[in-house]
Amino acid sequence: MAQTVTFYEDIQPIIFKNCTSCHRPSQIAPMPFLSFDDITAYGSMIKYVVNTNYMPPWMPEPNQVHLRNERRLSKKEINLINAWVDSGMEPGNAAKSLSTPDYDDQPKMKKPDAVFSMQDSFEQYGVYYDQYKVFVIPTDLEEDKKISAIEFVPGNSTIVRSCFVSIDRTDRSDPLDEWDPTSGYFSFGEVGFTPMESRWFTWNPLQGVKDYEDGAVKVLPKGAKLLFHIHYGPTSKPLKDRSELRIRFSKEPDSKIIQNIPLIHKYNLTNLPFEIESKEVKRFHSKFIVPYDLSLHSIMPHSNLLGNTWEVFTVDPKSKKSKVLLRIEDWDFKWKEQYAFSEPMLLKKGTVVHALAQYDNSEKNLSNPSDPPRKMTWGKRMFEELFLVYFEVSPIEESSKIQALFNPSMVTNGKFSFDFENKTPQKLTMEIIDFKGVKKGSIFQNKQFHVGPQKIDVNSKDLPFGNYYIEISNENQEVLTRHCFLNVEQDFFE
Ligand code: HEC
Repeated sequence: MAQTVTFYEDIQPIIFKNCTSCHRPSQIAPMPFLSFDDITAYGSMIKYVVNTNYMPPWMPEPNQVHLRNERRLSKKEINLINAWVDSGMEPGNAAKSLSTPDYDDQPKMKKPDAVFSMQDSFEQYGVYYDQYKVFVIPTDLEEDKKISAIEFVPGNSTIVRSCFVSIDRTDRSDPLDEWDPTSGYFSFGEVGFTPMESRWFTWNPLQGVKDYEDGAVKVLPKGAKLLFHIHYGPTSKPLKDRSELRIRFSKEPDSKIIQNIPLIHKYNLTNLPFEIESKEVKRFHSKFIVPYDLSLHSIMPHSNLLGNTWEVFTVDPKSKKSKVLLRIEDWDFKWKEQYAFSEPMLLKKGTVVHALAQYDNSEKNLSNPSDPPRKMTWGKRMFEELFLVYFEVSPIEESSKIQALFNPSMVTNGKFSFDFENKTPQKLTMEIIDFKGVKKGSIFQNKQFHVGPQKIDVNSKDLPFGNYYIEISNENQEVLTRHCFLNVEQDFFE
């Protein structure tokens, strides 16, 4: 290391590269780090937060499987910060100062095909605590739309910490919206009921436009409502937000649909019941078998305030080798996000996916919402817990003889409709299969279909809760499309 570590030579480049995107006026971080004075005012605190890995905020541990947008300082950068703070925060040669980075905070998607905004603006009062609100946005689309790119634009970047967009086609959000007199309605862990697809799209600060690659698309169905679940950070003065979602439609005729689905949940826990006694520290384990070859784009674990670790790993069916997809040693609800792989991963049929999460219900857990700690059970409320891992998956193979459209990732009331576009006159068979490959029901067999959109009523009432998929094949036993869904009880998220 150089003899003397100085601000302009060594530290400013590190801060500008890793911190200033959030630590500048009108962004999420409470203090700007633009000038020498800004930064030296927080010198020892900066040293503390980088050594404890609290900043830059990034929960996953370093791993062989790389994630997009990894935010991590190198050992060398941390050592430089330590040496600089310990030696009295020397400025060095100001002539070597970099110019302040130029940030363009305008939306990046210039000519979106559709924009969906919150109907009213929401005012976060000058309260020093976080708020969690759901805003219902009707889309009024005339037809199902395939989407190739999405950008969430926070209306106020100082307070919007994250937004998870769910979609639903029912009226279940109406009573919740009516019950809360303010704009939107309050809900902590989930949107207050089990939507057709939870976290259809997710946003965290610094994310930018999300482009779906390789012919993969999201579907926004006719009649869908978007549910913006926004986490507002604390503020000392009243601030307003009106966020929006910008969307680009796909022009590809054949596409593979990406769905986000919590394939790890309470129904595949191996150590039930899901209860954590007061003062107890407990680990839970869940697993599922990959039912057919899938492309995995991202994963997103979710626990509430008692959660303190996560590990998701796979075991190859042949070699029995295991591979860690994600490991979090210090879970922090505030920084939850969807972790996208730098390249989509192949999840081969038969692979076993495991998840382990630890919950700390002692007084030592400073985030514990109950004082004294009380027994914890399943639920979306702040004093309850969830054990979920969302997997953003698309099929590897899709036939051009059929195009699946939007279909629910979660089914709650024992029946749902399965939508697809039939592209050639053909005889089709449709079945429900569980994740162990056991056929659980036949919807129809060798039924003749004309070309055009189809809506099939599916009954899932007698299925035990858990993971399933729908498979449509033709007369030659050729599989044309598959789609995973989770059959859940009505109050799964209540
Ligand atoms: C993704 C946005 C983001 C980035 C990048 C980021 N910060 Fe922060 N930082 C925050 C937020 C938000 C807070 C407020 C505390 C919280 O919410 O946890 C914060 C708080 C802090 C604090 C105060 C800690 C406290 O306990 O109040 C320090 C010091 C800090 N950051 C340093 C850094 C440094 C140094 C970097 C770069 C190496 C960095 N931050 C990168 C968002 C960010």
